[in-house]
Amino acid sequence: MKIKLKIKRFNPEKDSKPWWGEYEVDVEPTDRVLDALHQVKWFQDGTFNLRRSCAHGVCGSDAVRINGQNKLACKVLMQDIVKKDDDTVTVEPILGLKVIKDLIVDMEPFFAHYRSVMPFFVNDEPAPADGRERLQSIVDRERYDQGTKCILCAACTTSCPSFWSNEEYVGPAAVVQAHRFIFDSRDRAAAERLEVLNQQRGVWRCRTAFNCTNACPREIPITQLIGEIKQTLATGEIK
Ligand code: SF4
Ligand code: F3S
Ligand code: FES
Repeated sequence: MKIKLKIKRFNPEKDSKPWWGEYEVDVEPTDRVLDALHQVKWFQDGTFNLRRSCAHGVCGSDAVRINGQNKLACKVLMQDIVKKDDDTVTVEPILGLKVIKDLIVDMEPFFAHYRSVMPFFVNDEPAPADGRERLQSIVDRERYDQGTKCILCAACTTSCPSFWSNEEYVGPAAVVQAHRFIFDSRDRAAAERLEVLNQQRGVWRCRTAFNCTNACPREIPITQLIGEIKQTLATGEIK
């Protein structure tokens, strides 16, 4: 089938403002949006730029706005978005981060927020003397399972109205990462992470808009995890 692909284009070296490029593309219903973007890049206009790596929903590098919603271009099938009475598909860069070129945004502010919550295991206590790993029960492991699914695609943070209005907000992705370690029974840096999340730029900026949860390609219940962090801060108890 033929579709009209509208891509928001912007080259800061040439353009004073973004503009819509329109491309007619022949696709199969089971093609992904990424396939259509490749068709434009490879066969119609080599100056068009996008970011992607794995093409299979793993690396998190191709989050874009498709028909107004944050998605991974490699996970959305044409048959699920092309309407019978409208063959237009729009693709724009995710919002709230500076556009470097076309669909490529500067991810550095996003990763700075990620780093600010110490997304790594902290434990200075000596490892078990018998040389084994630090063991955990199944229940302990399940407690932070949701956060381990995150692929740092930024679809959540860049769909959050609170982040759009204040880029200082650490954003839902950073909270998910903090949650993953705060609730890990082997970790010892929960207090430092909670201190970051209790600051003005922390979780209290979340207004429970739910956009993040709806945008997450890994179906992580982000708003619920944010609620658990708020609860922990309010009660002082890690449960
Ligand atoms: Fe992407 Fe979901 Fe991780 Fe947010 S929580 S960065 S939407 S995978
Ligand atoms: Fe934003 Fe998600 Fe909260 S969209 S306001 S972080 S529930
Ligand atoms: Fe890796 Fe889409 S290209 S997640």
